[in-house]
Amino acid sequence: MYKKEEFYQNLITKLLNNSCTVGADYYRPQWHVSAPTGLLNDPNGLIHHKGNYHLFYQWNPLSCRHGMKVWGHMTSNDLVSWNHYFPALIPEEEYESHGCYSGSAIVVNDQVTLFYTGNVKFKGGRTSYQCLATLKDDGDVQKLGPVISAPNGYTGHVRDPKVWLHEGYFYVVLGAQDIYKQGKVIWYRSNDLTNWQFLGELAGSGHNGFGKFGYMWECPDLFNLEGKDILLFCPQGLEKENEHFANLFQAGYVIGALNYHTKSYQHGAFQEFDLGFDFYAPQTMEDEYGRRILIGWMGLPDENESYHPTIKNGWVHQMTCPRVLTLKNNKLYQQPVKELEVLRKNETKIISIANDIPSLQLRCAEMIVEGGINCQINLSDIVLIHVDNTEVTLKRKNWRTNLWESRSWQGSIEILQILLDHSSIELFINNGEAVMSSRFFSPCNESFYITFEGSEVIHLTYWELSY
Ligand code: FRU
Repeated sequence: MYKKEEFYQNLITKLLNNSCTVGADYYRPQWHVSAPTGLLNDPNGLIHHKGNYHLFYQWNPLSCRHGMKVWGHMTSNDLVSWNHYFPALIPEEEYESHGCYSGSAIVVNDQVTLFYTGNVKFKGGRTSYQCLATLKDDGDVQKLGPVISAPNGYTGHVRDPKVWLHEGYFYVVLGAQDIYKQGKVIWYRSNDLTNWQFLGELAGSGHNGFGKFGYMWECPDLFNLEGKDILLFCPQGLEKENEHFANLFQAGYVIGALNYHTKSYQHGAFQEFDLGFDFYAPQTMEDEYGRRILIGWMGLPDENESYHPTIKNGWVHQMTCPRVLTLKNNKLYQQPVKELEVLRKNETKIISIANDIPSLQLRCAEMIVEGGINCQINLSDIVLIHVDNTEVTLKRKNWRTNLWESRSWQGSIEILQILLDHSSIELFINNGEAVMSSRFFSPCNESFYITFEGSEVIHLTYWELSY
């Protein structure tokens, strides 16, 4: 854990030392959220309160590795430009000695209350506490301490509280691992946020048609959308199945009905959220306009991470763009929030045989491709998007191995929307029926170009993106 004064001194030194290299980094996103220095991972405590969106995030400001996490804090009134604040939570107490881990926020009596995991490691083991804190109007946070400690029957891996209110009671879901090393989501109920009653397992390996389904489930989120109760979670330890579960860890959801009286949750099959290379630990909030908005971490704690070329410049990782969720045909659709359209500059429309489209020199752009799409889009020989009548394939050259790797989605394709931001791509297929999010690193000493290949006519609209 940190001593406050010493931590702030180190943080300010890091910020001052790294601000030039971070700001000038060729790969630094122009409009996606990333940390001012150090390592960023999960979005935490998403909430829209009094016209302000709060985005807290897992942050190791002192190094580009995981480890001692604080809660970074940003706010925005339009989901486009963000103000950064000093960390909301730093580990200073025994009950959070090894990090203030992920969690959520809820507004109670007009005040934002934060619910997070105090991560505690000791020789030969670990445990966790679910802790409360309140965010005051002046931006200061007051810690209220632990309210749930690790339940019997589970290992020390119990974390990531997501809290909500339903018919006068507060509920919280937690990601957990049972003593047989099976991933679960457990839940609790309270009428005051302080005293919690354990309700058991809401979902997990062995429930609702799941056999063994991962050794740990992280970052659960439960919400009602269009009458359905949707549970998001991140199972770890799934074996790859054809094009599914191709990343080291997964992020996905099930759709079902939660019975608060019998405390049982009936749900359908697991569906992956994003078929790209870099997506994990998404969290949602309902905003003051009633939209269900999701932000994910465009990263994964895998072996590529320690080879990110940005680390030498003092930062690593970014978030996805904020996305609105809707339910269609028993699937979650994800679309970039409309607010991002203010970034569109210099609209260009082209209807042409793909091969005849001149190459574009854009690294921060939005493209919409329609028509009988049968083409290949080549981003500087680092990313290739291949589209035919039945499949979209996203290939990228891995920066660690220099080898091509690919991910694909099968289905018929009507429209593709592509968001590019220097070192990230988000590909929305059929208005968000499927999404692929990935980082990529094109050589910074060569010019970056986008070319279109194919003998059929495509309809292309594109914009440069800037503030
Ligand atoms: C997911 C996760 C969470 C944990 C946090 C720590 O990426 O492992 O389970 O709370 O990151 O940073």
